[in-house]
Amino acid sequence: MTEERRANMVLLGPPGAGKGTQAALLVKAYGLLHISTGDMLREAVSEGGPTGGELSSYMNTGKLVPDAIVTRTVIERMAKRDAEGGVILDGYPRTRPQAESLDSSLDASGRTLDVVLYFKTQDEVAIQRLSGRRVCKDCGKNYHITNMSSKKEGVCDICGGELYQREDDKPETVKNRLTVYEENTKDLIEYYRTKGLLQEVDGGLPAGELFNNIDALFKKDGLI
Ligand code: AP5
Repeated sequence: MTEERRANMVLLGPPGAGKGTQAALLVKAYGLLHISTGDMLREAVSEGGPTGGELSSYMNTGKLVPDAIVTRTVIERMAKRDAEGGVILDGYPRTRPQAESLDSSLDASGRTLDVVLYFKTQDEVAIQRLSGRRVCKDCGKNYHITNMSSKKEGVCDICGGELYQREDDKPETVKNRLTVYEENTKDLIEYYRTKGLLQEVDGGLPAGELFNNIDALFKKDGLI
């Protein structure tokens, strides 16, 4: 990152649209803080504790974790000092109550949401991506068995960790996640369009090309 930025953005789109992949590229390019609710929830599950089992029962079946739990997690994270330079919210909000909670929290802390990137993506593309996704157990880097494969099968290029398939990337759960997205999250497209914050991008493009389009869009709008 060349200078401090304060842009706050939401990445919105179906499971497998490539939000996490673009978030990693955006962090590298602009140094914003990446807040992924999926990653935070998976971390809470792996730490065990009283809520771990409850969370995994939602996540492993593709259901949404209750709004109050997710919102509390995000608001607490956004209150930390390293969030002051701008954040990328990946996977949050996912329901209307979450979007309204985010609005109130940003208002209360004198911040604004600058842009919502909507990753328009066909279901077939999302299914192909999720079924082939592999994740490093140690550093969390994402791969895809054909689209973005590791140099050595099953081994992370970065840290040598073992690659695994997420429990919720199994076919039945993927189907359910897409349905849950249609029923709960798709409405947020209009919510943010009405507020004049929505920028649509083509989630079906190769990752590098999509990043270049997003970068050009941000530069045109003076967001970075
Ligand atoms: P979460 O982890 O947020 O999952 P998701 O939204 O379903 O998104 P994904 O991580 O599956 O997809 P992505 O769009 O980030 O794609 P990625 O870049 O990885 O949430 C998991 C669960 O947590 C939820 O089901 C729910 O239970 C709970 N949860 C989370 N947030 C919540 C909330 N706010 N409220 C309630 N519950 C919540 O890419 C996918 C694959 O495609 C990878 O293999 C990648 O290598 C490949 N790929 C990516 N981009 C491209 C490209 N352009 N071309 C080719 N391949 C690509």
